Amino acid sequence: MSGLIPQQFVDDLIARADIVEVIGHRIQLKKAGREFKAVCPFHEEKSASFTVSPTKGFYHCFGCGAHGTALGFLMEYDHMSFVEAVESLAHSMGMEVPREESQRPARRYDELFELMQQIERYFQAQLKEHGAAVDYLKNRGIDGATAKRFGIGLAPAGWSNVLDRFGNSNEAIERLLAVGLIIRKDNGQHYDRFRDRIMFPIRDGRGRTIGFGGRVMGNDEPKYLNSPETVLFHKGRELYGLYEARQALRNIQQLVVVEGYMDVVGLARHGIDFAVATLGTATTVDHLNNLFRLCDEVYFSFDGDRAGRAAAWKALEIALPQVREGRQIRFVFLPEGQDPDSFVHQYGAGAFEKALAGGQPLSDFLIDELANQVDMNSVDGRARLAELAKPLINRIPQGVFRELLTAQLAEKIGLPVARLDSLITDRSAAQARRGTGGTGMRPRRRAVAGSPSVVRRAIALVLHNPPAAAGLDATLLDKVSRPGTGLLKEIIEMVQAEPDITTAGLLERWRNHEKGQHLGKLAALEMPDLEDFDAGAELAECLQQLAVSGARQRVEFLIEKQRVTPLTEAERSELRSLGRGSGMVG
Ligand code: UTP
Ligand code: MN
Repeated sequence: MSGLIPQQFVDDLIARADIVEVIGHRIQLKKAGREFKAVCPFHEEKSASFTVSPTKGFYHCFGCGAHGTALGFLMEYDHMSFVEAVESLAHSMGMEVPREESQRPARRYDELFELMQQIERYFQAQLKEHGAAVDYLKNRGIDGATAKRFGIGLAPAGWSNVLDRFGNSNEAIERLLAVGLIIRKDNGQHYDRFRDRIMFPIRDGRGRTIGFGGRVMGNDEPKYLNSPETVLFHKGRELYGLYEARQALRNIQQLVVVEGYMDVVGLARHGIDFAVATLGTATTVDHLNNLFRLCDEVYFSFDGDRAGRAAAWKALEIALPQVREGRQIRFVFLPEGQDPDSFVHQYGAGAFEKALAGGQPLSDFLIDELANQVDMNSVDGRARLAELAKPLINRIPQGVFRELLTAQLAEKIGLPVARLDSLITDRSAAQARRGTGGTGMRPRRRAVAGSPSVVRRAIALVLHNPPAAAGLDATLLDKVSRPGTGLLKEIIEMVQAEPDITTAGLLERWRNHEKGQHLGKLAALEMPDLEDFDAGAELAECLQQLAVSGARQRVEFLIEKQRVTPLTEAERSELRSLGRGSGMVG
């Protein structure tokens, strides 16, 4: 699961590593009961929300949500790649990373980074030799110092400038393909991807160039060409300008997300060093995590047109689960036809900062956008507004912010807050929390039975207390078809196969899986840490509940089916035996 480093070694390393030592070596930790606390190194704060659990091998910040294992900490704090973090941790523990000599990924990656750097320098040198390109930048208000800071260069016209200079062996060609700088034709020949374009290097958190954006100087299409996704470059994760912002600013108080390369560069030219751009993609959860790890104030400044508003709305939807008191999100819409680059050129930095300060708070933007979709003068329209807001508000974590937003919305609709609150609160989730209870009554279709939150809770319980899963009967889950049940089963089986595995060990097992992120978030949930809390019993209860709800669903399905078509003999006998168990069929 971790490339060419054997998983067994990573398991071992995580099991033996002392996370308190790893983190305590880098920041000041204070003992607090069974855990350790610190001022969070990933966001600005005065109180100590950052918590390290030596038993779980896991750190978590209640302020910004940062969390992970010892390896995760090294990756975040020291900006290491996974392989580097493994090597560093192993080294500090006197362990040798076993690997096949022929395919050391570390070296291969180093070579690719090195190549990117050489090509970036080549583009920069080319810019100096092409007066027309320099003029283009000057005309757009970019001076030499700003161009240098962002490493702007030029890919000259021609089909094989990069290919000829950097591709003189088969391996070299493979490397150029791997970083996306050349394209292979069907006939096996190659040509340069970027031709006759102004080149913007895209850097990762450590300042290494991982991709490029290239702009035409005339009116050709496409206006911008970007590096494809490569082993180095993941668009959904990177923010253009973030490295440069961190270089320019000691403390990042605020970040503004803009749409384009030129917006970032143009703003920087005018002294606004805290702009970043998503790379031709919508804002992602990864982007937001990245932003909120650095500061609590995030602005989105998109174009004032329809597309800009749509992009802002997408960003809002992604941001909702991350909204909480202390965090500020504002949406800034510039006058029609302006983007941050043109705006700052025309009106100056002061005007842009003013526009930021006057941006719409997330709550206002949310309510306004929804109100625009309904007729606020009619009762129906206002009811519809509540209906539209419901799923959105339910994505916001419980807390002061959510309460305030609900109150604001209630006022807009003209309803008492309590009334709106009960309309909005997700009934099924609330009921599931209270438990499904055995009333013996036939549940209504798609009732609360086996709500996903039970699955989530069970997964969180296993993660927090792996030993509690030792005695569970995972086959109880065989007939349950709720989202997440598969993962729950896998994770229980993993613990049963490796009884000594810790929270951190489990997380590392899922590091490169899509589900790993969910697991990380569940591991970061606060769990009762009480002496008398019996995680094993709680877990068994969850499994039982899921099994019962699974059986009920099956019964409902079979009864439903019976109405339409006769059941097979097997189905009838299944129904009889299930019915007996769940008390639903007389
Ligand atoms: P815009 O079309 O708004 O361009 O694209 P811009 O940033 O204002 O650029 P200038 O001022 O004309 O130079 C915004 C962003 O969308 C992506 C790029 O990341 C661009 O910066 N984009 C746009 C592309 O990837 N390809 C395109 O063809 C156009
Ligand atoms: Mn522009």
